[in-house]
Amino acid sequence: MSYDLIVIGSGPGGYVCAVKAAQLGLKVAVVEKRATYGGTCLNIGCIPSKALLHASERFDEVGHLGALGVKVGPAELDLPAMLAHKDATVKSNVDGVAYLFKKNKIDGIIGTGRILATGKVEVTKADGATEVLETKAIVIATGSDSAPLPGVTIDETRVVTSTGALELSSVPKKLIVVGAGVIGLELGSVWRRLGAEVTVVEFLDRILPGMDGEVVKQFQRMLQKQGIAFRLGTKVTSVDASGESLKVSVEPVKEGGSAEVLDADVVLVAIGRRPYTEGLGLAEAGVALDERRRVKVDAHYQTNVPGIYAIGDVIAGPMLAHKAEDEGVALAEILAGQAGHVNYGAIPAVVYTNPEIASVGATEEELKAAGIDYKIGKFPFSANGRARAMLQTEGFVKILSDAKTDRVLGGHIVGTGAGEMIHEIVVLMEFAGSAEDLGRTTHAHPTMSESVKEAALAAWTKPIHM
Ligand code: FAD
Ligand code: NAI
Repeated sequence: MSYDLIVIGSGPGGYVCAVKAAQLGLKVAVVEKRATYGGTCLNIGCIPSKALLHASERFDEVGHLGALGVKVGPAELDLPAMLAHKDATVKSNVDGVAYLFKKNKIDGIIGTGRILATGKVEVTKADGATEVLETKAIVIATGSDSAPLPGVTIDETRVVTSTGALELSSVPKKLIVVGAGVIGLELGSVWRRLGAEVTVVEFLDRILPGMDGEVVKQFQRMLQKQGIAFRLGTKVTSVDASGESLKVSVEPVKEGGSAEVLDADVVLVAIGRRPYTEGLGLAEAGVALDERRRVKVDAHYQTNVPGIYAIGDVIAGPMLAHKAEDEGVALAEILAGQAGHVNYGAIPAVVYTNPEIASVGATEEELKAAGIDYKIGKFPFSANGRARAMLQTEGFVKILSDAKTDRVLGGHIVGTGAGEMIHEIVVLMEFAGSAEDLGRTTHAHPTMSESVKEAALAAWTKPIHM
């Protein structure tokens, strides 16, 4: 069988690239080694974690309804039902990808792909049978997997990565999370809400590196109020799993402090993810990797070997599903002879905790480091009528604009619905809009989004409601 395009990996990068390429008239196959399509995101990432985040948030909310005059008894947890909801959510999403393949006449092939040479992909099926497929172009969209922590053996039951943390059969009494990044805070929140005592051990002296420092500081206080404890500037050196309770050795990153042993029922290791390229035959095909073992590509996603391309978590850039998807679309357009492109300056990032934290564009730290003269507009949800009505007054919107041109350079929100609200700033930045543009845009009243408008007014001139 000969194709225009074979995509290896069916995550958000791979499946979206395949669908777009098929829509543009190319003959496409997708090779996936997992039993279902959708990659990390749909099977063990974005989708199951959001199902548990939503369910655990509703569980937690029951305890706060009294303030709204709604009397209910204490919430009772049915963990198997909550996990079943998560599994059903995953199933409907991965089935959706299989449907999209059918609809777009894409050949979905379950098997492990290996690049033999330009234009040749070998597929090994579960029963060991192999076949060689021919194609004009190959796209590597093999994603990433969890980074290991030296001294710690993962068993996915008691010492887990995010995959095991989505499957715990009971609520741990004590959960230690290693890494205060996105996974650690999201999944730490899930189990905290369901009753676990959660301690997050972070190497750096701050949480969520890369996000705006001021926003993150306030966010950390909110998480602490919810009962999550932080050990910053601390590293885990080993986990002893020989006894009934796990013994977690931690020590300060700075020299001089003393080591300590903490007890835990479950340890979640969430210290980042690394590109997944094992068994792909890249070395034999001569495909170059960068210093962090990511596949090196040019501005058109082509590797150093003509006809072999790569997108998503396996190349440089933020490891986000929507970044992978948009690269998939851009590459499909390029392969179909069109001009595909991704605006890396306007990729939103959302942490789906309660409240959410969302950001796009530059942080204050980045603007300072780049020597750019900027203005800050901030507006707290405590001054927003809708937020007061919903008792969701925690957090604020922060808009950063160019001091000379008024162009919006970054937007950061911590608060209920931040992950939805951020998109008006994303669109504004996509169109190179100014704080004045946003401040003059009519926003429906009463909405949380009015705080975005007010923050823009604060950056451009003055807010009305503060
Ligand atoms: P993947 O989704 O990793 O897909 C790669 C696929 O390639 C896999 O299915 C793999 O089996 C397959 N594969 C690998 N090698 C081969 C081979 N040789 N042959 C055949 N198939 C192969 N991002 C967000 O934007 N929002 C979120 O809310 C979010 N939540 C997350 C939560 C968790 C717990 C995790 C772990 C990640 C989360 N992410 C989130 C990150 C997101 O999942 C990734 O950025 C995204 O999945 C990357 O897409 P991809 O297509 O590059 O790769
Ligand atoms: P991360 O890179 O977000 O955070 C890892 C954290 O671990 C960092 O704070 C880092 O300083 C810390 N760390 C590293 N080594 C350590 C050590 N030895 N001891 C203690 N702390 C250590 O990585 P994470 O949370 O594993 O997520 C991986 C990727 O998945 C992220 O890049 C993220 O983009 C993506 N993701 C996105 C989500 C979203 O968009 N909502 C949700 C979950 C994951």
